[in-house]
Amino acid sequence: MTDSPTRRALITGITGQDGSYLAEFLLDRGYEVVGMVRRSSTVNYERIAHLMDRLEFHSGDLLDQMSMVEAIREHAPHEVYNLAAQSFVQTSFGQPVLTGETTALGVTRMLDAIRLVDPSIRFYQASSSEMFGKVHEVPQTEATPFHPRSPYGVAKVYGHWITVNYRESYGLHACSGMLFNHESPRRGLEFVTRKISHGAVQIALGQATELRLGNLDAKRDWGFAGDYVDAMWRMLQLDEPEDFVICTGETHTVREFCQAAFARVGLDWEKHVVIDHKYYRPAEVDLLVGDGSLAAERLDWRPSVGFVELVEMMVDADLALLEGRLRHLS
Ligand code: NAP
Ligand code: GDD
Repeated sequence: MTDSPTRRALITGITGQDGSYLAEFLLDRGYEVVGMVRRSSTVNYERIAHLMDRLEFHSGDLLDQMSMVEAIREHAPHEVYNLAAQSFVQTSFGQPVLTGETTALGVTRMLDAIRLVDPSIRFYQASSSEMFGKVHEVPQTEATPFHPRSPYGVAKVYGHWITVNYRESYGLHACSGMLFNHESPRRGLEFVTRKISHGAVQIALGQATELRLGNLDAKRDWGFAGDYVDAMWRMLQLDEPEDFVICTGETHTVREFCQAAFARVGLDWEKHVVIDHKYYRPAEVDLLVGDGSLAAERLDWRPSVGFVELVEMMVDADLALLEGRLRHLS
């Protein structure tokens, strides 16, 4: 660690679900937080609208090396959290090269920027349980071999290993969090949990009659995003960088998520959910469930929100949003 009294963090992906929770978390701990944001024709700061006057921004893109060098040079962060990615698995089948450029090579661009400008910076890489894919053991640990099942999963495996490689080659304090699925009211509407919570509420309010979904048998280890950003920070506070699985240790099917979400608004999910094969994937990840004992031991980190509580939190937030009681998701 440096001896600067105020810690400064650079977050890529600050406009995303995790970026918004991490920004809040770090601001609460007295950090100065800089978000790297890419240019778009409409502003998409909805998840961080409540933090705008406490954040700094740097315009950049994971596809553009110089913008990352400049972000590091200009803001001199002590910690960099690389959360930006093309993060939607389904899209990665349709846009595999873009996914590779962003989610895989983008990691190397950031590591090179750090290596060249200030190798003392601590680096967090957002690795994923998607890397386990067609799982070789149950539950999955830090030692479980990778077998990715999508261009996204393959890109994340690259991002993971290049992080390990820069740590071993150049002595960077660089680590990866192998995070299992984590959700929240700020989750993008295309991901299955939010699609279900939002869809169930729309049906309950008479704004829709059915919800079209794909594979209901897939099992995921779902936690709360607000808990998981704490684990990211804890990883960067270790004296020696190390990679961790971050999970709840419980797994549930998409069907169970439907059941719990529709029950929260007093509906029977079976009367409204329609199977649509366009939401099936060319290759599926059937079962994810992690073993988080290393994180519990070394980081003293445990999840605080259980499955039913998470589903109800998401449904309640969508109800408030769609009834007009909430103006935005913060
Ligand atoms: P998210 O909501 O989809 O946010 C992705 C972020 O990346 C957005 O801020 C997006 O910016 C930014 N981004 C995309 N392409 C970019 C580019 N070329 N240059 C700069 N920024 C770019 O994802 P999330 O759920 O917060 O996940 C955060 C990270 O953790 C991702 O790397 C994801 O793959 C990984 N992860 C997530 C989970 C999970 O369950 N949530 C689990 C394991 C790992 P725009 O707003 O401009 O699109
Ligand atoms: N998105 C979506 N939409 N998924 C559906 C649907 C649907 O209509 N119907 C069924 N599913 C199934 C998918 O086939 C998958 O098995 C499961 O629901 C979860 O899909 P997503 O919510 O899209 O998440 P994911 O598990 O593919 O990926 C998320 O978690 C990864 C960590 O394991 C993303 O956040 C990734 O970025 C993250 O790395």
